[in-house]
Amino acid sequence: MDDDYRATNRANWNERVSVHPDTDYYDVEGFLAGDSSLYPMEREELADVVDDDTTLLHPMCHFGLDTLSWARECEEAVGVDFSPSAVEKARDLATDAGIENATFVEGDVLDLDLDREFDVVFNTFGVVGWLDDLDALAETVADHLRPGGTYYLADVHPFAEPFHDVDADGCQFGDWGFSYFRDDPLHLDADGSYADPDQSFEHTETVQFVHTMGEIVTALCDAGLDVEFLHDHPWADFPMYDRMERDDHGRWWLPDDVPVELPLTFSLRATKG
Ligand SMILES: C[S@@+](CC[C@H](N)C(=O)[O-])C[C@H]1O[C@@H](n2cnc3c(N)ncnc32)[C@H](O)[C@@H]1O
Repeated sequence: MDDDYRATNRANWNERVSVHPDTDYYDVEGFLAGDSSLYPMEREELADVVDDDTTLLHPMCHFGLDTLSWARECEEAVGVDFSPSAVEKARDLATDAGIENATFVEGDVLDLDLDREFDVVFNTFGVVGWLDDLDALAETVADHLRPGGTYYLADVHPFAEPFHDVDADGCQFGDWGFSYFRDDPLHLDADGSYADPDQSFEHTETVQFVHTMGEIVTALCDAGLDVEFLHDHPWADFPMYDRMERDDHGRWWLPDDVPVELPLTFSLRATKG
């Protein structure tokens, strides 16, 4: 895959970073007042491996809200993002929040080499769809975990994607999108953002990728990680379909007139042997 897709995506993310911190989706005000931006699910599923002594790496950290929330709960948190604007904003936010045990590094998760190991690698929401090479992601994870360390991945459930018409303006649940088994990259040109659908951007093109659940799990196993659990959840982290309702924890639920529940999010934990 041509590396140019990353330049296309980076331009889009650089621009989104200028807007996202001011959105309701990202409650920066609440964070600065002491709230955690993490989902209860993330904290619960990692409760037994994160404490005051934990070192945590957060690849694809965006402007650092989750990284900094973890920093409040552990020894040290390091956020990595390939968007220089995201890294700059994350550093500013750390200063504003008075958090000194977090650092932010500009880097690409597909060829990251920080030359050190962490207790936990945390990777959530908006991960696999931006990457063409899950083996490279899994290698990065394995290279940066100490033996016995924990990888946590939560993201959009691949099963939900085919019911998601990414070209529709106001996608109804059940509008067919793309095949679960699609190999070709998605070349999208869409204004707005999950955090602010009405916002207008200059760099609207992105290149995204479809991965099956089997590909995700197999890539981790091939890198020598032992999968501990794979959980399915009936809510999404963003309004992926029209008319979804957001609850107090920032989880988006299908409208009441959809008569079934589907897995919209998965969470997975794996250990380095
Ligand atoms: C959807 S956002 C993550 C959002 C995060 N879960 C949050 O809510 O703050 C995806 C992030 O991944 C970054 N990204 C995309 N591709 C990347 C890559 N190859 N290497 C490093 N960062 C990447 C983008 O710059 C963006 O900040």
